[in-house]
Amino acid sequence: MDALEPLYDFGGARFDLHDPEDRRLVCFMLSQALYGEATGVYCGKSLYTAYSLEAARFYLKQARQELNHLELFADIFRKLEMQPVPAHWSVKLLASHNNYYPLKVLMEHAIGEGMVLDIFRDVMLQTLPDDDERVPDVKKRLRVVCREEEEHIAWGEKETVRLLAERPWLRTPYYGLLELQLLIAPIVTRAFARRFKGHPVLAHLEGFVEHIKNRVWQQGQRLGFVPAARPGILPRMVAMAAGLALYTRSQFARSTSKLDKRYLEELGFSA
Ligand SMILES: [Fe+2]
Ligand SMILES: [Fe+2]
Repeated sequence: MDALEPLYDFGGARFDLHDPEDRRLVCFMLSQALYGEATGVYCGKSLYTAYSLEAARFYLKQARQELNHLELFADIFRKLEMQPVPAHWSVKLLASHNNYYPLKVLMEHAIGEGMVLDIFRDVMLQTLPDDDERVPDVKKRLRVVCREEEEHIAWGEKETVRLLAERPWLRTPYYGLLELQLLIAPIVTRAFARRFKGHPVLAHLEGFVEHIKNRVWQQGQRLGFVPAARPGILPRMVAMAAGLALYTRSQFARSTSKLDKRYLEELGFSA
C-alpha cells in the first residue's frame, strides 16, 4: 500500500493556520514530531550491535534519514513561523532509546515508527489546509518523511519476525508490551484533547485512537505475537508482567559489538 494513503478519514476537518488557537495546536503537534526525530537520530547507535552488513547498512542509512527529518521539521517550523515547544512527557517516554535489540526493533521501529507514520500521514497530511499558501511546501517535506518512515517500519517488522523465529519465548513479553503501549497511547492524545476541546479535528480524536489501537493490534497478529482473540484479564496481566520484566532487563542490557566477530563470513570469506 502507498505510504501516503490515509487509513483514517478525518472527514474534511482542517486546521486554520491563521487562527491563533489552531496555530498553538499545530505547533504542539509538530513539536512532538521534532523531538521524536531528534531521538530518531540515535538509531545510529545500533551500528555497534548490527549483526550483519545488511543491518549496518540499514542503520547508517536510517540515521542519515532521521537527521534529515529533524532538519525538514525545523524547515516546517520556519515556514509556518512557529517556535517549537518542549515535548510532552509521554512522547519522551515513548521515544526513549533502548539498548536491548529485541525491544528496540519491536517498540521503536515496528510499533513506534508505525504510530509516528499514523500521525504524519493521517493527521498532518489530511488536516493541514491546502488553501494556505505555505502548506504545499510543508506537505512536500512531510511526504518525504512518510515514505522513509515506511521503510523503517518494514525493517522493524522484518527484524521482529526474525527474532521471534529465533527466540519464540519473546512472543509473551512482546504481547504484554503491546498491551502496555496501547495503555500509554491514549494518554498522549488526551493531552491534546484537554488543551483544545471542541475543535473539528479533535472531534475525531477518540475515533482516531481507536483506529490506531486496531491497526497496531492487527500488526501484532500479522507479526505473530498477538493471539487471534484477546485473552482474559489474567493472561493479559501475566503477559504485561513479562513485558515489564523484559523492559527492566533492557534497562541493564549492555550492547555488545557484532560485526567485528562476523565480518569475515559477512564479506564472504571463510571465518
Ligand atoms: Fe523520522
Ligand atoms: Fe524513522
